[in-house]
Amino acid sequence: MVKLRSAQWYAGEDRNAYIHRAWMRRGVPDDAFSGRPQIAIASTASELTPCNAHLTEVAASVRDGVHEAGGIPLNLPVVSLGETQMRPTAMLWRNMAAMATEEMLRANPIDGVVLLGGCDKTIPSLLMAAASVDLPAVVVPGGPMLTGTFRGKPLGCGTDVWRLSEEVRAGTLSQEQFTRSESSMIRSRGHCNTMGTASTMALVAEALGTVVPGIAGTPAPDSRLLEGAHGTGRLVVEMVAAGRRPRTLLTKASFHNAIVALAAIGGSTNAVVHLLAIAGRLGVDLRLDDFDRIGSRVPVLVDLQPAGRFLMEDFHRAGGLRAVLREVRDLLDPDALTVTGRPLLEHLEDAPIWDPEVIRTRSEPLAAEGGIAVLRGSLAPDGALIKPAAASPHLLRHRGRAVVFDSIEDFHARIDDPGLDVDADSVLVLRGCGPKGYPGMPEVSNMPLPRKLLAQGVRDMVRVCDGRMSGTAYGTVVLHVAPEAAAGGPLALATTGDLISLDVEARRIDVEVPADELARRTPNEATVTGFASPGRGWERLYVDHVLQADTGADLDFLVGSSGSEVGRESH
Ligand code: FES
Repeated sequence: MVKLRSAQWYAGEDRNAYIHRAWMRRGVPDDAFSGRPQIAIASTASELTPCNAHLTEVAASVRDGVHEAGGIPLNLPVVSLGETQMRPTAMLWRNMAAMATEEMLRANPIDGVVLLGGCDKTIPSLLMAAASVDLPAVVVPGGPMLTGTFRGKPLGCGTDVWRLSEEVRAGTLSQEQFTRSESSMIRSRGHCNTMGTASTMALVAEALGTVVPGIAGTPAPDSRLLEGAHGTGRLVVEMVAAGRRPRTLLTKASFHNAIVALAAIGGSTNAVVHLLAIAGRLGVDLRLDDFDRIGSRVPVLVDLQPAGRFLMEDFHRAGGLRAVLREVRDLLDPDALTVTGRPLLEHLEDAPIWDPEVIRTRSEPLAAEGGIAVLRGSLAPDGALIKPAAASPHLLRHRGRAVVFDSIEDFHARIDDPGLDVDADSVLVLRGCGPKGYPGMPEVSNMPLPRKLLAQGVRDMVRVCDGRMSGTAYGTVVLHVAPEAAAGGPLALATTGDLISLDVEARRIDVEVPADELARRTPNEATVTGFASPGRGWERLYVDHVLQADTGADLDFLVGSSGSEVGRESH
């Protein structure tokens, strides 16, 4: 029988064991402390993270499953990050949430953990924590919301906000109609129902092997989610007995499969920065270029917004992730295991596509080549990303005059100025939005187009930025430029009027300025130092230690693992 970690607290007759047991008793029987795994249910439920507010109910089902399997379930509320509510950007606290969860798991008498997340940053932060503390861990994604409708048409959460607001700016939709659509946008509990970051990270977590296969993508109100949560509660007890920890499961092969899945579902670019950060916690040698090498030739099979038409409820009905992965099973690494202890491939045997309009077959993909392209060049020596499937084909090779903005505030102040010297061929360049510069790398890279160009019917332009973009967004956007301007990247030296060339086929993004001339330029001070003034607290720590996007934007001292052992005891 496996020696439980919690026995370090509860076993024995000494004073410390007495203290640990006595304070936890409160009605539980003697045998709760001898040989029964202590299972934390790390929940990001919060009313300020509306996408995760229902996780309390999901936790109750996990709890039942843990009990049935002989474990002791323990609720552990952890830091929750609500994407739509937090200022200046939820990403500023992904690493903090990961650090806090890791430390709470390590400090407490826990043998295994079920991780409940949903909204964008919550599953990444939970997985980063679990990877660093290396206790048996399994994710239950909270699931997407049901499809809302407005005036008879489905609304894609997030994506349609951008589309409708652009229509207002273009004068084709009234402000009153726009406001009226607000109460139709969020039909039910759950996270955004497009293939945005939340849906992407849930599915990618399953492809990685950290979710019981078949659960990710189950709509939040669907009773099968509770059934899956119940089963996961039982499973985690088995994982503890088997010693099935993140470091025994998650290998380069797991990340390979996650990248194939990311490409085949047409997932969010945000998954790149999150997967790099998780791999960094595990010591898996994952590089930015792996996303291009492994993913860029994988066909996009899922016709979901923002790149396509349907929504997550349709995706689940059509067969879900297992049906997608079955279509590309020859591209998967057969060695990768899952939380069940069995290889991912074994879980794909009975996984038909029920609706080939939503999940395409390999012979009729939505796009022959999907994934995420990694660009390099004189504007991004350490790399930048573009999602070709969400871009306009005619802009994938483009040369245009830069119109440069030093911050998102500068952008908002000038973009609709009728006097702004910009045309449809211009390249909008926004800097000061990287991890250090903003700080927190916000989702602003899909800059709204100038009103005067929208009125002319322009719907896409090449945009370049050192920030991220919402997974629900679309357009020809080059993002995650590294190094960012505030870290001394050449993006800081570009000026309005420079020629910028984008060639996605050649994987290049360049500023056509001779290197010696670029080197002679001096960036303005705010571009280099950032626009906020993080004098103290978390922001200070973050700015001083955050890494660049090409390695996952983790804090330098959080990369790697401390494991679960704690040698000292204060009593
Ligand atoms: Fe929470 Fe979109 S705002 S998932």
